[in-house]
Amino acid sequence: MNLAVASDHGGFPLKARVIEELRKMGHQAADLGTDSTEAVDYPDYARAVAQAILEGRAERAVLICGSGAGASVAANKFRGIRAATCHDSYSARQSVEDDDVNVLCLGARVIGPELAADLVRDYVNARFSGAERHRRRLAEIAAFEANFGK
Ligand code: RB5
Repeated sequence: MNLAVASDHGGFPLKARVIEELRKMGHQAADLGTDSTEAVDYPDYARAVAQAILEGRAERAVLICGSGAGASVAANKFRGIRAATCHDSYSARQSVEDDDVNVLCLGARVIGPELAADLVRDYVNARFSGAERHRRRLAEIAAFEANFGK
């Protein structure tokens, strides 16, 4: 699978471990920055991974900030992006199986590198179930997007 990985400065300490794990699993992981702990704005990195997905350069992404909150808020503003912060294995897997999440958000100030590696494995190994009820719910969300949230 082609994945995009990005972080802000708060997420930077976790990014290398996430990329290492993805590559160890045999996946392609494009590093879209940031490259240091110098302060940057997380929306810029949310845009980078969202565009990678929406332009077909990546199938999924991992986006890391300090808490995982800002990353998911920003990424979810892009039409067709379904981002979720998952700090437990159940959610990392189920968010894909049921909700077809395409951006896993992590908080580097909340979890450590080995839990992050576990979550990345759970996330990447999961597949959308395609169940009718889940498709129906995703279609409702897509309708929200089409109506600009009205
Ligand atoms: C940056 O200090 C921090 O606000 C950011 O990484 C993230 O946690 C926002 O949700």
